[in-house]
This record gives sequence, structure tokens and C-alpha cells, in this order.
Amino acid sequence: MPEVMEKPEIIPVPQATPKKVSRRQMLMTLGIALNAVASVLFAVPVVGYIFGPSKRKEIKKELSWITLGPLTKFPEGETRLATYRNPFVRPWDGDTGNIPCWVRRISADKLQVFAINCTHLGCPVRWFPQSGLFMCPCHGGAYYADGARASGPPPRGLFEYDYKVEGGELWIKAGQVPTLASPPSQACVEQPKRCACA
Ligand code: FES
Repeated sequence: MPEVMEKPEIIPVPQATPKKVSRRQMLMTLGIALNAVASVLFAVPVVGYIFGPSKRKEIKKELSWITLGPLTKFPEGETRLATYRNPFVRPWDGDTGNIPCWVRRISADKLQVFAINCTHLGCPVRWFPQSGLFMCPCHGGAYYADGARASGPPPRGLFEYDYKVEGGELWIKAGQVPTLASPPSQACVEQPKRCACA
């Protein structure tokens, strides 16, 4: 006789009831989310301020030597204006990132490269070959052809960049506007009288 199969027992599955979120909970979650966003927005500039200088130092290490172009651009016995692009520029700096400087070529391999800024209050100085002087238009400061202070309120000679000639190009060590607080360049260490304070 064939066996009679037993009917399987059906166990009812409990239905998940949808969880109700109260208005209070929803506002609380929204408040936490907004606070988190505000904290991030506040932290970004603070972190940038703290870690910015070390990043700038790294950039300075990599980009301290900047070319002013082929040496042939600077004839012997003349002082010419040159421009370099500041390595620390941001995309929105535009033309303000182009920094002028004066190049004096004394002989075939002897040069001087001066910052354009007067050592009094930073106005751009201009070279006058007729008088052999750099003159500052702001308060009448004057400098000799070798950058030494001649007269007026400037406290010292012009700031001088260190330079090297490599691959037929003139390179200067630059990247920041020199100030009285900056350490003296090697050029000034070698000839302290030229850059000395008045
Ligand atoms: S800024 Fe040049 S003399 Fe004052």
C-alpha cells in the first residue's frame, strides 16, 4: 500500500512593520548633518593655514633656481631689465606673478642681479645709464651701478639675487620678494659693503 504524504505545516512569517520616524528625530539628524558640514568648512582653511608653510618650503626647495633666459640677452657692460615668473603664483595671480629684476653684466661671466624693489619701502627702482644710477621715484632714493646705496632714505644697498650660468642660460635663486628680514644672499655675504646698511 502506498504511503500517504503528510501535508507540510505552514508557519506564518511575521510582517515587518514600517518604522515610523518622528519629526523630532528627523530634525535632530538634519541638525547633526548641518553641523558636520559647517565643521568641515571651518576646518579646511585652518588646516591649510597650519600646513601651508611646510608645503611652501617644499615648493621653494624644488623651484628656487629660475632661468632669466639665454645669457646673450644681457650684453657685457650693460644693465638690462629681465622678468621671471614667481613659482608661488596661483592661477588667479595673473600678471602680478611676473617679477622684474635688473641684470648687470660686468664681464663675460661676472654679473649682478638686483631685485627691483627699493630697500626703503619697496617701490620699483629704475636704471638711468646716463647717470649710472638706480633711482627710486617714491622718495628720491639713489643707488650706484653696483647696487650700493648712494643717497636718500634707503637704509642699505639693493637686494641682490644669487645667480649661476648653466647651459648658456642665466639662473637666479628666487621665489620670494626680499625684505630687510630676509637672510642676505651669498652675493651680499661675499661683498658686505655693497649691501650694507647706511
Ligand atoms: S621707497 Fe624708495 S626711497 Fe622710499
